[in-house]
Amino acid sequence: MSENWRDVNLANWESRVAVHTGPAGYDLSAFEDPDHISDVVRYDRPRLGRLDGLDVVHLQCHLGTDTVSLARLGARSTTGLDFSPSALKEARALAARAGGDVTFVEGDVYDAVGLLGGARFDLVYTGIGAICWLPDIRRWADVVAGLLRPGGRLFMREGHPMLSTISDPRADGLLVVEYPYFESAGVTFHEETSYSGSGTLTSPEAVGFSHGLGEIFTALQQAGLRVTGLEEHREAPWNPLGDAVEPSPDHPGEYVLKEGRDRLPFTFTLQAVKT
Ligand SMILES: C[S@@+](CC[C@H](N)C(=O)[O-])C[C@H]1O[C@@H](n2cnc3c(N)ncnc32)[C@H](O)[C@@H]1O
Repeated sequence: MSENWRDVNLANWESRVAVHTGPAGYDLSAFEDPDHISDVVRYDRPRLGRLDGLDVVHLQCHLGTDTVSLARLGARSTTGLDFSPSALKEARALAARAGGDVTFVEGDVYDAVGLLGGARFDLVYTGIGAICWLPDIRRWADVVAGLLRPGGRLFMREGHPMLSTISDPRADGLLVVEYPYFESAGVTFHEETSYSGSGTLTSPEAVGFSHGLGEIFTALQQAGLRVTGLEEHREAPWNPLGDAVEPSPDHPGEYVLKEGRDRLPFTFTLQAVKT
């Protein structure tokens, strides 16, 4: 494994913030409408339900768009955690403008229990490109279990580990497995641009880690959570495969394969309860 994965990824995420808040980036102004919730949380809503009375923590909250949206679903308290100070600056400004009572805490996911306190949340929410930055899924599952009260729930919608194995789109339209499915040493990649916004990244290197569905399931069981739901989806809220995808006709802000949609899941939703 690249020894300095954390430093490399922090620099990469710091450099994405200006791009994501610039032209063609995240639609932050939409939150001026007090009823607006992000496309990501809108997709989750039928499975997530109302959050009235719940203490919610959003791990790897980035610019806070989903965190503010969770607060708007009625949570009693909402906390976002991320290791990027620039992202949190934007998230705090968004929450102030949007009128949301949301607390943002800077830190590494692996330190979340020490930073936020143990067994004090009813819901841990995470996903859409979160666990792919973490080298050890068992350590992450221990953090989730440590944050939750007994009976508390994990809700995650994530990039499907099978999607992350697929190489760049090919002219013949075939999907070719190139990268690891199982948890392994990590893949260092170089991308000049990001999935949102139009500028170039000043720190284009990043280290990503895959975790197989079975590894995620087993890590959660061993940490003391019971998996209560697992659904695979044909769509993702970013374009993962260039010209091979098109906007989803059914879900705003989501992308699907142009051809042969049943070949590959793009994302999955997993829910689990702390026993
Ligand atoms: C793709 S974003 C999460 C997506 C989020 N759903 C969104 O679009 O608003 C990934 C986030 O993980 C954060 N991150 C990556 N590694 C982290 C770590 N080890 N600890 C805390 N945050 C981390 C990055 O700063 C970034 O904000």
